[in-house]
Amino acid sequence: MPQRPYIVGNWKMHGTRAMLSEARAIDRAAQRLMKVEVAIAPPYTLIHPIHREAEQIAVGAQDCHEKEGGAHTGDISASMVADAGGKFVILGHSERRQDHREGNPLIRAKAESALAVGLRVIMCCGESEETRDAGDAVAFVTKQLKASLPPEIENPTELLAVAYEPVWAIGTGKTAQPSDIEEMHAAIRALLIKLYGEEHGEEVRILYGGSVKPENAAEIFAASNVGGALVGGASLTADSFMGIALAAG
Ligand code: G3H
Repeated sequence: MPQRPYIVGNWKMHGTRAMLSEARAIDRAAQRLMKVEVAIAPPYTLIHPIHREAEQIAVGAQDCHEKEGGAHTGDISASMVADAGGKFVILGHSERRQDHREGNPLIRAKAESALAVGLRVIMCCGESEETRDAGDAVAFVTKQLKASLPPEIENPTELLAVAYEPVWAIGTGKTAQPSDIEEMHAAIRALLIKLYGEEHGEEVRILYGGSVKPENAAEIFAASNVGGALVGGASLTADSFMGIALAAG
């Protein structure tokens, strides 16, 4: 049976306790939209406060360290995310790849660490504008994804989602054409089947991310192999985020 659409808000470095009211509003709205799985990834500081109050939505992290613990000033491990009530972690986001020079081997190690404590991994991938203009987007993304994903996952259907986010579409107001999304998601689907077998490879949800808004969400969700969205800016208010979730349901 196909999984429910998965709509994940990535709050990035936005959100103090004042945002808890927005999380409550998202949670209330999600209770009326059971056909859609709604989740938010706030900054670390809000994971536990949101987890304590949420009845319907899951809360997760935007990153984790690859080690279980130790002398790593300023870092947060996967088990700490889980202890705070986190259920998933976003890994390999292009902002981490660029701002923190994270490469595929490190991202894979983080994914293994997260899976070891039972967190779902939302693995991000995406090409730059130069790569797309050169006609190399599909080859680049499939290579990046293959090198970032753990080769073995016990239950990929449950514990993995992939987010395709063209770097040039993030926070820019530009979105990929539905035909380009379909082409990329089909290539990602083929890779998932190759890595994890048909049963799981067909079921893992592939999210699209990059300037998704209530106005363009329906068109994006109508594209084949789109199992949800990873939403940045438009996830910061309950109205716009749940407008997107409504388009998925
Ligand atoms: O993780 C979310 C993406 O980076 C998309 O961000 O919706 O603000 O373009 P955006």
